[in-house]
Amino acid sequence: MSVPESDAEPEAPSPELFDKIVNLAKRRGFVFPSAEIYGGFRSTYDYGPVGVLLLRNVKDAWWRSMVQLRHDVVGLDAAILSPPQVWEASGHLANFTDPLVDCTKCQSRWRLDKLDDPDVCPSCGARGSFTEPRAFNLMFKTHAGPVEGAGHEVYLRPETAQGMFVNFANVLNTSRKRPPFGIAQIGKSFRNEITPGNFVFRTREFEQMEMEFFVPPDEAERWYGYWCDERYRWYLDHGMPSHLLRLRPHDADELSHYSSGTSDVEFLFPWGWDELEGIANRGDYDLTQHSKHSGEKLDYFDQATGERYVPHVIEPAAGATRTAFAFLIAAYDTEEVRGEERTVLRLHHRIAPYKVAVLPLSRKDELTGPARDVFDLLAARWMVDYDETQAIGRRYRRQDEIGTPYCVTFDFESIDDGAVTVRDRDSMDQERVPIAELVDHLAQRLT
Ligand code: GAP
Repeated sequence: MSVPESDAEPEAPSPELFDKIVNLAKRRGFVFPSAEIYGGFRSTYDYGPVGVLLLRNVKDAWWRSMVQLRHDVVGLDAAILSPPQVWEASGHLANFTDPLVDCTKCQSRWRLDKLDDPDVCPSCGARGSFTEPRAFNLMFKTHAGPVEGAGHEVYLRPETAQGMFVNFANVLNTSRKRPPFGIAQIGKSFRNEITPGNFVFRTREFEQMEMEFFVPPDEAERWYGYWCDERYRWYLDHGMPSHLLRLRPHDADELSHYSSGTSDVEFLFPWGWDELEGIANRGDYDLTQHSKHSGEKLDYFDQATGERYVPHVIEPAAGATRTAFAFLIAAYDTEEVRGEERTVLRLHHRIAPYKVAVLPLSRKDELTGPARDVFDLLAARWMVDYDETQAIGRRYRRQDEIGTPYCVTFDFESIDDGAVTVRDRDSMDQERVPIAELVDHLAQRLT
């Protein structure tokens, strides 16, 4: 496999950076604590006016490369609520558990497998105070209809993947695809995490971007390598620096029971290397299980060879919310400009919330009217911000802090020469561009 792995210990983003990002996220409208006016709801977050664009861009970039640009992958949007049979077949009812221990001294609750020392409570320091571990199922359970209790239980999906497996035959019969082909889905998943934390890194409600790629069994190993390469490259192509990224194959004792190979794309977070995405070779486990439990045939008949087989599955499974957070960390930069500190998010233009900001130099009607026309011209094509408050320097700084690649300023000269100033976020270079050429000028830079 040609994917490079980093062995040298690169410089990790600092813990102070973590606090700066959390602060910036709130201050600039990326992420707000959920239900904040009621004191917040632990480890649950809302995406604000800028954050919703960032998250959407991450998902769009994934969809573009995984579905739009490929002839062998189709999309799906399956239901979030699902009956117990799905989770019985998938193994989640029996196995989707974390080992939970309680400290009998201070009543704090921990995931045993995440403790540095399994005998010492990190909260009160007591030794040997933990209860016996209990298997805690991470799925959120609710009930459908007015009657609670047995027979009415439904689950919020803990992953989007099962929606693709249970729809395998529907998609095969309607999409005119044959293995190797994939089904992709983006959507919310829910896990009752015992220890959520690190801001939006681990939350109970989050978004996933998953693709199930169905292949003839003897091609599984080759496709597994292919998807590891593809997915690693996707992060680099969208501006992640290679020293903050690595592909880590799982050791044999880390593998899920159904997986014959898994590699994680990991990012160097301020607390160390941690997972952004897992790429797994799941064999025929999922289709076989759902076939057994549903009684439906979930296989493929190859008319060319006369062979019938259960396809094997290669699954690249990424987190959208987690990846958006990693992009923020990777893009954050500060530098000194004329004796003042400038904070700038050097986001790839495809990930940046706004592509352009239109800024009339002053609030006078003679400038704001035509500046709004420039906004209309550009907004038909890109997500554009419009801001006429404060001095121009402060407006540039605000756009730098939310990662806007280009600012377009309409000034008094613009009225006479029909041109505007285009400022580049990274170099801060400015150039004069005729409004008639503005769309082409930006399009060349925002492809
Ligand atoms: N279908 C396989 C699957 O769901 P996973 O490793 O459990 O695999 C895939 O999840 C990705 O979803 C993770 O790599 C991570 O990016 C994201 N993810 C999982 N749990 C999460 C959580 N509690 N909060 C935020 N993202 C999460």
